[in-house]
Amino acid sequence: MSIITVENLTKKFGPIAAVDGISFGVEKGSIFGFLGPNGAGKTTTINILCTLLSLTSGKALIDGHDCMKESSEVRKKIGIVFQDNTLDKELTAYENLLFHSYLYNVPKNDRKPRIEDALNFVGLYERSNEPVKRFSGGMKRRLEVARSIVHQPKVLFLDEPTLGLDPQSRTSLWEFISKLPEKHGVTIFMTTHYMEEAEICNKIAIIDKGKIIAQGSPEDLKKMVGGDVIYLKTKDNRKAIKDIKEALNLDAEEQDGEIYLSAARGDACIPTLIQTLADMVISVRLQRPTLNDVFLKLTGKAIRPEAVSGGNEIKEAIRSYRRKFDK
Ligand SMILES: Nc1ncnc2c1ncn2[C@@H]1O[C@H](COP(=O)(O)OP(=O)(O)OP(=O)(O)O)[C@@H](O)[C@H]1O
Ligand SMILES: [Mg+2]
Repeated sequence: MSIITVENLTKKFGPIAAVDGISFGVEKGSIFGFLGPNGAGKTTTINILCTLLSLTSGKALIDGHDCMKESSEVRKKIGIVFQDNTLDKELTAYENLLFHSYLYNVPKNDRKPRIEDALNFVGLYERSNEPVKRFSGGMKRRLEVARSIVHQPKVLFLDEPTLGLDPQSRTSLWEFISKLPEKHGVTIFMTTHYMEEAEICNKIAIIDKGKIIAQGSPEDLKKMVGGDVIYLKTKDNRKAIKDIKEALNLDAEEQDGEIYLSAARGDACIPTLIQTLADMVISVRLQRPTLNDVFLKLTGKAIRPEAVSGGNEIKEAIRSYRRKFDK
């Protein structure tokens, strides 16, 4: 069931269509990634869904409510972490969340426990009474996530939540974010320029110049790039290439003493390969296309070439989240 529905959504600024007839649905309790290069239309779309911007044509619904006609209903259901930091730096962490709970009419008796719970959740409970101006970038982002859940939204919009953070802060922020669907039943709509972070998503839409150019799970999108590549070292490469052709009807080639071949599903192919080649095999290596390859192929641009440091820790946090979600 979709909690966010977007149909033929268009937003024009003068003659320019920043968002140009996009359609997608976001399943309840899932993490949806909205990826695209600078100026693609991501923030514009988020601003429309959050009722901060009017649409030119098409439809945008949150939990069945029209973002244009029922904006106050929509606002009750959403939380947002903006692309730019919006905390009050003179106030303490607790005061920032308290102010937010006034704005969102959190019932008086619920305020303190919910704020403490949210601060605890992002690991800032001990720092509750410190002014935000003393916080690091990563702590501020975590505090913004805490603030965005105090009024218990059904949908949380995260516009580049990890922008400008170091790898450790990014990892810890994703640890908190990835627990939200399970712990608080929240649906997450996120944008990021870090492709390894997008692995966390159950579904991704790639937007370029206002149009969605691909949608699907990370695995589906990677399949669009082509198959996996398998590298093999064998005791007799020439014989192995011949045997692979005969048994699997796959064309293998030799380069630098290694055989390589591509297969739509490398993981499914490897057992058969090993069986076919038996004791000729010395080593096997599988290379999967990454989301960065997908992005490059579809948009012609690398989204952020330097986005590799800290990737492994983030990938581990993401894998642990996916194991839970897939259960
Ligand atoms: N208020 C505005 N008036 C005019 N043009 C705008 C306005 N807001 C956005 N745009 C234009 O709309 C296009 C999409 O902008 P948007 O902020 O949605 O991109 P984005 O995908 O979020 O990019 P980034 O990755 O840089 O955050 C850009 O060309 C931008 O200049
Ligand atoms: Mg943006």
